Amino acid sequence: MSFDRTIKIAPSILSADFANFGAEIQAIEAQGADWVHVDVMDGHFVPNLTFGPPAVKAFRPHVKTVMDVHLMIAPVDPYIQAYADAGADILTAHVEAGAHTHRTLQAIRAAGMKAGVALNPGTPAEAVEHLLDLADLVCVMTVNPGFGGQKFIDMTGKVRKLRQMIGDRPIHIEIDGGVDPQTAPLVAAAGADVLVAGSAVFKGGSVDTPEVYGANIHAIRAAAESTNG
Ligand code: DX5
Ligand code: ZN
Repeated sequence: MSFDRTIKIAPSILSADFANFGAEIQAIEAQGADWVHVDVMDGHFVPNLTFGPPAVKAFRPHVKTVMDVHLMIAPVDPYIQAYADAGADILTAHVEAGAHTHRTLQAIRAAGMKAGVALNPGTPAEAVEHLLDLADLVCVMTVNPGFGGQKFIDMTGKVRKLRQMIGDRPIHIEIDGGVDPQTAPLVAAAGADVLVAGSAVFKGGSVDTPEVYGANIHAIRAAAESTNG
């Protein structure tokens, strides 16, 4: 994975057909997805439950781009190796998931994956100040985690602060939650480069009408690139 700050669209399969993940992943990648965002939820850290390592392992052969795994779980450390074995390219842990995020990020990298750290809306950018040299990605939640289709919470001030803190380090700023053609320009202008979108990508489409996914992805990308962010 080479690093660049060009806009990337990472559809979240949380909004996909749960009975057809393989075909859905192939469809979004064929229609322009840059990454595939995989939302792991444990029903403890967030009030929802999705899937774990066996499912992520089953997704892997269908992902030709980057499998960006977002862990909304606590604790994280006991499961890191299982997600490495499942084939995650990026593994993102929430800074709120435990007391030792510094060690968690070290362990993710030691397991051979890129390390991401996620911040809930109520967590300040400063929470990752001492983690930046261990991170390849900072995920700024713009919804309270657990569900797709929620209303965007404006975190542009936090994004700008993070962009300033990161400087020229090769660290992606990922936005997750409520991203659509209206909100994408706001966060791109503030310095974000990876845009996760679930409902805004999958809405109105299906594996039988994948061109709708393509049009949705294109609309988000065009809106983000329309700013000088
Ligand atoms: C929420 C997940 C997000 C969500 C995005 O907890 O982390 O990735 O699936 O879905 P939308 O884009 O519909 O807000
Ligand atoms: Zn997510």
